[in-house]
Amino acid sequence: MATRSLYLYQPLGGKPAPAPWRDLLCNPIRCTAILLIVALSVTSIGFIVIQRPWGSLVDFTPPHEFDQPPISRPSVVVPEPDPEVIGATVYDPFIAPSPGDAIVDKIVRPIKAHSAMSEECMDVWVSTGLWQEPCRYSMVQDSQIDLVYVWVNGSDALHQKARKELLSATKYKTKDARFREHDELRYSLRSARNATATWPNSTWHIITADVPPPNVNNTAPDSLYRLGLVPQWLDIECAFHGNPDGQPPIRLQHDSQLFRLTGRPGATLTATDASNWLEKILPSFNSHAVESQLPQLDPGIVSDNIVALNDDQFMMLPHPPSAFHTTLYGPVFRMDPNLLVGGDASGSADGGGEWRSLGWSAHLLNQRFGTRRRPYMQHNARALSLPLMHELSLAFGEYFAATPLSQFRGSHKVANEYEVNTIFMSTHYVIERHREALLWSWIVGKWGRSSGILDRDLKWKMWMEMGGGDEADKLSLLQAERTTSEDVEVNLLMAGVQPPRSFDEQKQADVAYSWVSMDGYSANFHTLPKRVDINLDECVGEEAEFAWDMFRRVLKENPTCGDNIIAALIHDSKSGLEVFLPPPCEDESSATDPIILPFDLPPTAPSLPRNPRAFAVRLLMRYAHVLGDSATIFMPMKSTSQADRALKTADKQKNLALLCINDDLGNGDQRNANNLLHKWFESRWPERLDCEL
Ligand SMILES: *[C@@H]1O[C@H](CO)[C@@H](O)[C@H](O)[C@H]1NC(C)=O
Ligand SMILES: *[C@@H]1O[C@H](CO)[C@@H](O)[C@H](O)[C@H]1NC(C)=O
Ligand SMILES: *[C@@H]1O[C@H](CO)[C@@H](O)[C@H](O)[C@H]1NC(C)=O
Ligand SMILES: *[C@@H]1O[C@H](CO)[C@@H](O)[C@H](O)[C@H]1NC(C)=O
Repeated sequence: MATRSLYLYQPLGGKPAPAPWRDLLCNPIRCTAILLIVALSVTSIGFIVIQRPWGSLVDFTPPHEFDQPPISRPSVVVPEPDPEVIGATVYDPFIAPSPGDAIVDKIVRPIKAHSAMSEECMDVWVSTGLWQEPCRYSMVQDSQIDLVYVWVNGSDALHQKARKELLSATKYKTKDARFREHDELRYSLRSARNATATWPNSTWHIITADVPPPNVNNTAPDSLYRLGLVPQWLDIECAFHGNPDGQPPIRLQHDSQLFRLTGRPGATLTATDASNWLEKILPSFNSHAVESQLPQLDPGIVSDNIVALNDDQFMMLPHPPSAFHTTLYGPVFRMDPNLLVGGDASGSADGGGEWRSLGWSAHLLNQRFGTRRRPYMQHNARALSLPLMHELSLAFGEYFAATPLSQFRGSHKVANEYEVNTIFMSTHYVIERHREALLWSWIVGKWGRSSGILDRDLKWKMWMEMGGGDEADKLSLLQAERTTSEDVEVNLLMAGVQPPRSFDEQKQADVAYSWVSMDGYSANFHTLPKRVDINLDECVGEEAEFAWDMFRRVLKENPTCGDNIIAALIHDSKSGLEVFLPPPCEDESSATDPIILPFDLPPTAPSLPRNPRAFAVRLLMRYAHVLGDSATIFMPMKSTSQADRALKTADKQKNLALLCINDDLGNGDQRNANNLLHKWFESRWPERLDCEL
């Protein structure tokens, strides 16, 4: 029965309609009805924010030293830029942090949008997969998403000088191609202006290289004064503030501001460590090194939800925020399931491109989460979660600290100190932690909760819950019938979020959520398995076992068992993850429980959270994610004539959402290709940005 206070907030003054949302098939009348409900709920939201019928905000105050987050961080006051002109070039001067400040913040961060959801709502959402009571009044709205660009002007004279000095000091040789440019950043930003016009409260951040000021004795130990590179066509003082009716603020940050020393989990890091480290890694001419510091972006300056772009990546059509992030379903990862990356700890792959870092990153993930091949992330605008990237940088701290030892890409070739591929790891870490949360919740939190031991009797019950028969010791299931994908649109509408599908794919990018983590885990990174075969002896066993041991066993020693257990369990219901969750224990507060499982799984079980169910729900919400699809092109530009053909193809594909134009040109083709690209850019995005000079 709805409580009196709940009743007071019914938007239509009546009892809540109990029909599951999926019954509201979207014919025009029902669509109108849904929109009406959404509109009514929007008008009542102000009231609800003041008097939440379900009580206070979720309190995240955990006991462990490694994760004590404040509920929200104060916004940082970002200093306005004060440009300095040297010769004819404008720079953005700044004082780099001292070594004592260049140490990672070890506090695991909650996801801000989740802190604003009630525990009851989160529980119902995760267990049923339906946005219903008591979430009805918890309109989460479109996500706030910031764009993050990493950019360098390789033609800048001071940058070239610093690069030459380092090359001659280290005797290292590189190809020049990395530093060519065709004014891509300007047009990538123009494309983003048109594609993200509806995004609420977005800020754009451009991370650029920095150089020592000329005529200053830069070997002096206390010279923290640096000059950040500036796109010369941008008025950075004007762009800093943005325009409330149009363009988001554009803010610069520089490499030397970002680098933070990380270490093995639990390690104590001192200013001396940081000082020694900074000496070895700066300046950096390696984009892998700079990307490895994206997790250290200040959460007081940069939103939890980011889309990371290179300057050669373009957004071709308007995108709703849900094309990249929603509070309900998490970040939208775009993968290439046909390009699988296996672990490689040998370092023998090409270090000048991505493959050495991909193999090494896949190896690290294998060690922690079990061996498998994982898809490459499409080379285009990428959705990432800043709090989860930061968590990753703590979990794999020593490897993140080793990455910038390569001051040029691939230059530091020492076993176990290869570069990590931050984008690849950030994505797969979220997927693996979600899978881990499912297995922990079912095995340790649900079945192991009373004694921590799974005896024959419990094992048998687990087998039956998976769908096993009384007699059989084998289990075969066909593809599960789930409605999760069909529910996405209505759930989002009910939460006040514009869904990602488009009515006209030539006017708005059409983004499909091909897989949402509310369906568990997809071993093919795309769909529910067509068929699941499980062997009782191999995966569950009949002998008594510690729940923690079984969890570790199916997590990483025999990952196929873990995958199949998850796939079998979701057969139980049409949507939601209730079957994985421990039973409710309402009298136990979850306020003192940690917010994450340990970074490394110790051989003996850590103590159970006081409220295992609330803990598991929070974990599943934290690592929620989507595998999405939209029309994208990755275009390697090998010659002018080939580029010409490719651009024409791109023009013809009216539903093209994302495009990357990768410069693979020989030196002879530079000028013609430059003219060609420039013409094409101007025809696509003729309107200047605000503050464009
Ligand atoms: C891009 O955005 C600008 C500014 O909002 C607008 O004037 C222009 O019409 C848009 N162009 C396209 C092609 O959408
Ligand atoms: C977001 O933008 C709206 C209007 O554009 C403004 O009213 C609101 O205060 C902003 N919110 C934040 C958190 O900055
Ligand atoms: C720069 O400073 C260092 C250390 O303070 C000093 O040893 C060196 O002589 C100085 N170089 C110049 C050119 O002044
Ligand atoms: C890059 O540097 C060169 C040389 O200083 C300058 O002419 C050019 O305008 C710069 N490009 C951008 C986009 O800032």
